[in-house]
Amino acid sequence: MESIEQIEKQALAELSTADTPEALDALRVQYLGRKGVLTGVMRNISQLPQEDRPAAGKKANQVKGILEKALDKALLRLEAGTQASGDHLDVSLPGRTTLTGSLHPVSQISQQMCSIFSGLGFDVAEGPEIESDYYNFEALNFPKNHPARDMQDTFFVSDDIVLRTHTSPMQIRIMEKTQPPVRVVVPGKVFRCDSDLTHTPMFHQVEGLFVDRGISFGDLKGILTAFVHQMFDEKTSLRFRPSFFPFTEPSAEVDILCVMCRGKGCRVCSHTGWIEVLGSGMVHPALYENVNYDPKEYTGFAFGMGVERIAMLKFGIDDIRKFFENDIRFLNQF
Ligand code: DAH
Repeated sequence: MESIEQIEKQALAELSTADTPEALDALRVQYLGRKGVLTGVMRNISQLPQEDRPAAGKKANQVKGILEKALDKALLRLEAGTQASGDHLDVSLPGRTTLTGSLHPVSQISQQMCSIFSGLGFDVAEGPEIESDYYNFEALNFPKNHPARDMQDTFFVSDDIVLRTHTSPMQIRIMEKTQPPVRVVVPGKVFRCDSDLTHTPMFHQVEGLFVDRGISFGDLKGILTAFVHQMFDEKTSLRFRPSFFPFTEPSAEVDILCVMCRGKGCRVCSHTGWIEVLGSGMVHPALYENVNYDPKEYTGFAFGMGVERIAMLKFGIDDIRKFFENDIRFLNQF
């Protein structure tokens, strides 16, 4: 009995000073292993006088349990200590920085576009993304059978409610509420049933409207030239091509000299040297009638352009879908 108690005392004392998992392991072997001290004692119990055996066996088993528990506990204590202890802090690890958000590249370009127009005297306004057929088409002089009104091109919410297909409906909303002079740009989301390398069902536009007395096509050219020169650079020349939009007359599409090859011809400009960036024109008199402006008194121009298009040219991105995949490795570059 005494020797068992002795073993217990001794083992617990050594255990309290063991300071590595290896030391604990050695103690486990020394006391509880196959050739361990306590194991040896237990094996010898059979040689004790018959009447002493039960008590000695019980005691030995108790001590075995106590030592096992104490060893387990000491191991846990050591492991916790290792994690908490400053001695084991690896100062060569890179620091953990807090992630900060940043503006999406499309938002950056949209804001830059608005800020350039702001510098040219334009206000900035926003409008609803869910529009009535009246504002999206009717008031903009789209005839009833215009292909843009087809289910194929437009997301219809109901018979006469649509996801706006362009930012142009804001021309009407603004003119309904304000008398000339009107000078405003409208950034925002637009929606079309379209999806490939250069089209996504949702994209962004910036619309422009300038109405006052005596506004001419020359003003349109001047403003858009100033914009392109600020957005890209002064060497980026513009080309105005006759075109058609129901809400402008005359209408023009504007190309800029290819920013990649400077007009030599490359993949980006389909080897033409030019890239189409926007639609524009003189506001159609039919629109003035819809908003009670006197078409004899006022003239003006309007334009609309895709933000992703400009962003792709500015950043050299060749697939529009990259903007909306939310791959942080892509977005972090801007
Ligand atoms: N709304 C036209 C579109 O989405 C772009 C456009 C063309 C806007 C001519 C205009 C404009 O204001 O005058 O394709």
